[in-house]
Amino acid sequence: MSSKPNHSAFAVPRPRRTLAFRLSAAYSLAGLMLVILATASLYIVLRTELDRSTELFLADKLHVLRSMLRERPDDEDGLREEIELESAARRYQQFYIRLLDEHGVPIMTTPGMAEQLDLAQLASRTHDRFESSIAMAGEHGRPFRVTSATVAVGTPQTHSNTVQIAIDVSQEEELLARYRMWFWGILLATAVLFPLVGYRIARHGIRPVEEIAATARRITSTNLRERIESEGYPSELASLAGTFNEMLGRLEESFESISRFTADIAHDLRTPVNNIRGEAEVALARPRTADEYRDVLESSLEEAVRLSELIGDLLFLARAESPLTELHRENVNIGELLTTVRDYYEASATDAGISLVFNNGTEPLNADLDRSLMLRAVSNLVSNAIAHTPPGGTVTLAATHENAAIRIEVSDSGVGIPAEALPKVFDRFFRVDPSRSKTSGNTGLGLAIVQSILALHGGSAEIISQLSRGTRVTLHMPALLTR
Ligand SMILES: Nc1ncnc2c1ncn2[C@@H]1O[C@H](COP(=O)(O)OP(=O)(O)OP(=O)(O)O)[C@@H](O)[C@H]1O
Ligand SMILES: [Mg+2]
Repeated sequence: MSSKPNHSAFAVPRPRRTLAFRLSAAYSLAGLMLVILATASLYIVLRTELDRSTELFLADKLHVLRSMLRERPDDEDGLREEIELESAARRYQQFYIRLLDEHGVPIMTTPGMAEQLDLAQLASRTHDRFESSIAMAGEHGRPFRVTSATVAVGTPQTHSNTVQIAIDVSQEEELLARYRMWFWGILLATAVLFPLVGYRIARHGIRPVEEIAATARRITSTNLRERIESEGYPSELASLAGTFNEMLGRLEESFESISRFTADIAHDLRTPVNNIRGEAEVALARPRTADEYRDVLESSLEEAVRLSELIGDLLFLARAESPLTELHRENVNIGELLTTVRDYYEASATDAGISLVFNNGTEPLNADLDRSLMLRAVSNLVSNAIAHTPPGGTVTLAATHENAAIRIEVSDSGVGIPAEALPKVFDRFFRVDPSRSKTSGNTGLGLAIVQSILALHGGSAEIISQLSRGTRVTLHMPALLTR
């Protein structure tokens, strides 16, 4: 069996171009195009203007000669002055004129014209051309523009002559050549300078990004306190740095809460273990009666139960956070569920002098829930409510529904929770009054478990409270009824 070599497996990864490189390449390209566009269009304008002024000059000369020949055909001196003599105009721009009779025999010629131009070629090339001039090279390679026209002589016309005009445009050509040289010079300078300057600008611009990256690289769980100094950053990068700092803040907070959590666990596990140990040590210090041993064992059992409950709660919370946790959903009658809770707590409420109320409505309210988990959540709430309500108070259970959402409420007329503690009550191990829970054996995991259960159901838990007025916890969840 032949196997083709897998090219991609051997392919060397292309080196990544840096952002600074890409930016400066883009700048330079755009800059170069702009320079080319600007200089090229200037060149075209200049060339057009020069051509136009040459054309105007030729037309003007032709016009002068045309009117002289038509109106004063006998004024030979005037003609001679116009054609042969050195005029002021010639000092700036050399031009030559030749006047031919109707048979093509020269009548008058600007001196030196024959040395500058091949006159036969001039005649043949300008033949039949009446409008614009044409370019022609002179005898010494000088550039010329030439034109020729037939003009009427006399009024009324007796015959016609031919006027040939040639103008030396070497100055214009030189100007354009100089311009072209400048053009290439500027282009070269641009091609060198733009990438250099662009690269510097780009590097300067992305330095904050590199600083952010460097900070990110430095950060470990031990120096989460570090922040990026975004002073002087452009607004986009300042907001990136801000977002990054906020993320660090959140990370720091959750790291702190994890370490607090670990310390709390250790503390809460140690207490019952120490109690068991202390009791056992005391009991073993000397011989005891069977009843004394029984007392110690009972007390140890109590502590062990507490310990295993705590471990159970912690395990539950850890599992509830796993994305793999599955709910055993079934169709649950909410009224029946709340009645179960009420029946369960009725006796302890009565003992505490509290009335526990639940009025099951006539309309059955059903939802797809994990029954035992929801039972646990509501039980936690009722046990909190009873624990924090003085005798004579009331704890009320209620369930309502709105479209496909179910709401279960547990409210009490108890001591309430101070506003500053309210945002923390769902945290693990949080207790408003930790000293009180030492005796009661509360761990501060009850509401955290409630929240986890609601999260598993795609719902949420909400708490409102007023000191010495009471507390209300509301559980919101989707009903998810498919049947
Ligand atoms: N209905 C309530 N009225 C007043 N305070 C409350 C009420 N419910 C909860 N709290 C306060 O919030 C804290 C956290 O409650 P949570 O149920 O999480 O823990 P806990 O009751 O102390 O312990 P656990 O439920 O694990 O035995 C309680 O310690 C209590 O201070
Ligand atoms: Mg509780």
